[in-house]
Amino acid sequence: ALLAEAKRVAAEFDFPDDVVRAIGDEFVAEMNEGLEKNATTMSQIPTYVTGVPNGTEKGLYLAVDLGGTNFRVCSIQLHGDTTFSLTQSKVPIPRELMEAKTAKELFAFLAKQIEIFLKKHHEDHFEAHVRRRQTVSTPEGYRDENIFRLGFTFSFPVHQIGINRGTLIRWTKGFNIPDAIGQDVCALLQEELDLLKLPVKVAALVNDTVGTLMARSYTSPGKTGTLLGAIFGTGTNGAYLEKLSKITKPMGGEYDSSTGEMVINTEWGSFDNGMKVLPTTVYDNILDRESVNPGIQMFEKRISGMFLGEILRIALVQVMKSPTIPLFRDDDSSHNDYNSTTTVTPSSPLYMQWAVDSSILSIAEADNSVGLRALRQEIEKCLGVSAPSIEDAQAVKDIAHAIGKRAGRLAGIAVGAIVLQTGRLKNNALASSGTDAIKTSDAGDTPIPEEDIVDIGVDGSLVEFYPNFEDYMRSSLRVMNGIGPEGEKRIRIGIAKDGSGVGAALIALVAAKMEKPSD
Ligand code: BG6
Ligand code: GLC
Repeated sequence: ALLAEAKRVAAEFDFPDDVVRAIGDEFVAEMNEGLEKNATTMSQIPTYVTGVPNGTEKGLYLAVDLGGTNFRVCSIQLHGDTTFSLTQSKVPIPRELMEAKTAKELFAFLAKQIEIFLKKHHEDHFEAHVRRRQTVSTPEGYRDENIFRLGFTFSFPVHQIGINRGTLIRWTKGFNIPDAIGQDVCALLQEELDLLKLPVKVAALVNDTVGTLMARSYTSPGKTGTLLGAIFGTGTNGAYLEKLSKITKPMGGEYDSSTGEMVINTEWGSFDNGMKVLPTTVYDNILDRESVNPGIQMFEKRISGMFLGEILRIALVQVMKSPTIPLFRDDDSSHNDYNSTTTVTPSSPLYMQWAVDSSILSIAEADNSVGLRALRQEIEKCLGVSAPSIEDAQAVKDIAHAIGKRAGRLAGIAVGAIVLQTGRLKNNALASSGTDAIKTSDAGDTPIPEEDIVDIGVDGSLVEFYPNFEDYMRSSLRVMNGIGPEGEKRIRIGIAKDGSGVGAALIALVAAKMEKPSD
């Protein structure tokens, strides 16, 4: 009974290829709507970044990164030959700061971490700056070489008004500090840095997806450049290069229009908040209802690491409610004994909202052993179930697999929609020669010329650690209108690990070059 029930629950997460196509069409429609108007479901935020690097950029920059699993401070030496060296420290964000009473508390914490980092890794720089301040009486400091330019990776939806200015639109991923909404997050950070008298200037505001796109372009500049930077981690989102002519909504800030392109932060986590096409289950509905932002980030809530463990937890709890289904009961032989006692205590993580880490899904997917030993251990540790049976573990595996597979398939649609929106599969040699080179039956063995590759950079714990995530993404790409099996082969997906720090440094570099004395 248990395994049949697990299969039934797993099937609820499946959806047909027709729905893949319908989601793809809606995705492209919402992208265009967001380019034309403000306040749309997908924000399509102009970033004022109008080009991607080519690997020759040089210099020492600072970057901080808020919004993923860890808060990170890094310094990045760009060597100018597509390589860089990175020094970094990471600390998990204290949970209480995610719901701090005031924004000041959070930003003071960030500034403090930057101070600790500088004292530890760049004491010399620090002292040189202090000495200089004492000896130079005129404030010619804005180009003081001892002032670090900092790229601030802030991975939340921000209405950007310039390269280092932007106001917070809303929090996502469990953060909830209402007084920060509408404030300029760069100014908030700069204020705290100044209070600590640190030689640091916030030069650029960067979403993690934009950083990932920049980093990927720097390290693997192909002939056609990288098109999309995407995160599949705690949250999910993508930033891509769009033609300026398609961005018809009003943009306030100044930018260099010579490239004819601008990086757009899609904020695709909020795709289809209206639930026109996204598949849903009773478990998704419970999760949404009990979240801090019901009705928002509906795409993200089906894809990213912050939510997958919670979907699994809710599904398992629902299954346990049925007296006839022996999930986590203490006696395997008592399948028909409705009074058998459960092996879970009321204080187990299984009964606590958000207490189940999504890493259990990766372990479930990876464990193909007969006795499911690794998964059973994880069920004990992570769900707080004592001595789970092999059948229990198999049920968890089936349901977890279905949740992960759905996430991967949905993730693939987002990538596919961006490729379609930009027409990149058409803009190359193969397309102009009629794509026959690829359609031939032995195409699988024919290496695809570099200029026909569409390069995508990805980062985040899910795409890095969830087995087969890319395969599930590809299964969607293959069935999408306008991509198909031929197009799918031409899409290269590469990890840009911890890339957003490097990306933020690259944008800080561009911004520093554009600085005027009044900035
Ligand atoms: C990190 C990036 O590598 O990945 C962050 O530097 C990003 O900017 C993060 O937010 C996303 O992954 P996760 O799993 O930490 O949310
Ligand atoms: C959330 C944020 C977005 C970020 C993504 C990945 O969706 O709103 O800005 O890029 O998470 O971290």
